[in-house]
Amino acid sequence: MVGIAQAGSRIAPPGSRRAGSICAVNKINLSEKLSLIHEYWRPKVVGEMNGQEVKLVKLQGEFVWHFHEKADELFLVLHGGLRLDFRDRSVNLGPGEMIIVPKGVEHRSVAEDEAHVLIFEPASTRNTGNVYDDQLTAPDGVPI
Ligand code: NI
Repeated sequence: MVGIAQAGSRIAPPGSRRAGSICAVNKINLSEKLSLIHEYWRPKVVGEMNGQEVKLVKLQGEFVWHFHEKADELFLVLHGGLRLDFRDRSVNLGPGEMIIVPKGVEHRSVAEDEAHVLIFEPASTRNTGNVYDDQLTAPDGVPI
């Protein structure tokens, strides 16, 4: 029966891992994951692929100025408002809006009220970038 689906069997979508393996494809509910986050400025990993990580973080207040030497960094706002400060301008983002900060560009996140943000960037990217030991520097690679 190789290559022929039996009645009632599940066919894995193209590109996914074989159905029934320990690596079966599962959906990730972002609201559920966010409900497990109780600290600000501590990104948690909810997925990874191709050496990149998808992280969720809750923000409130003002982050530290920093840049990432080797990583472009994507921010997608899920809830609330996020202002990204650059040395020459600021960009305000609302839910459903995203921005990609190129490597080497200094930036700072500011959220006057609580904001929920999805971050997409290479694994092992330090949240405070070139700032190694700030009080807001968080451990990387922490799953939730
Ligand atoms: Ni950054």
